[in-house]
Amino acid sequence: MLKQILGEWKPKWHEGRWRATLVVLPIIILALPLGVLALPYLDILNDMAVQAKAKPQGQYGWFSDEQITSERPPVEGTIPQGYFPYYVTEKDEEKAAAAAGLNLENPLPRTKENILRGQAIFNRICITCHGERGDGSGRIQGPDLFPAPPSLHSTQAVKYPDGRIWHIMTRGFSKMPAYANVLEPDERWAVVHYVRALQLAKQKAEAK
Ligand code: HEC
Repeated sequence: MLKQILGEWKPKWHEGRWRATLVVLPIIILALPLGVLALPYLDILNDMAVQAKAKPQGQYGWFSDEQITSERPPVEGTIPQGYFPYYVTEKDEEKAAAAAGLNLENPLPRTKENILRGQAIFNRICITCHGERGDGSGRIQGPDLFPAPPSLHSTQAVKYPDGRIWHIMTRGFSKMPAYANVLEPDERWAVVHYVRALQLAKQKAEAK
């Protein structure tokens, strides 16, 4: 009976097709689990992503002046959250530094603690250029190196109001880089106390 059936069973496909099927079938079977793994990433009804929304930098014609929506200046008299406008608006470097000197006052009391705090920061940051005592003998200056900064004991620097020194650290000045992104505002004020202490120490030493 079996022999009869097998004997009669003559596949209609010729051999080439069977071989191809034997190769392709395992590939499909092996690939299936991969497809299942990929399923979570296939969003078919993706309403969260596909929706009416404004894209950044896009123009929407919502405003008469056709300004890019995400870059509109804030309404006059308001400031964005988390943003603190800088006190000095002068564009010219020298004028801005002078204005800062006139308008800003050191909010930190001149205590030993604040001076020591300023010293620690000075000796970490300012020292590389201005030198340990602020005389401009820092390590990175020299021929083919950074230009030597002026001494912090010059008649000019001694006369600078606290606000001007704070401003120079905040904004930088000429070749001196700004340190606002490195030092918190009150850390800069503490450094001002220390610069003043350095200046006083030198004056006292010279008066002797
Ligand atoms: C990368 C080197 C460098 C570092 C670090 C640096 N300064 Fe300066 N600083 C300079 C240079 C250069 C100048 C001179 C800028 C100019 O007028 O061309 C200067 C100028 C100054 C002046 C003005 C001096 C004057 O007579 O006009 C003050 C004040 C000052 N720095 C304070 C500081 C303090 C405080 C720090 C630490 C937070 C500091 N600097 C860190 C390079 C540096």
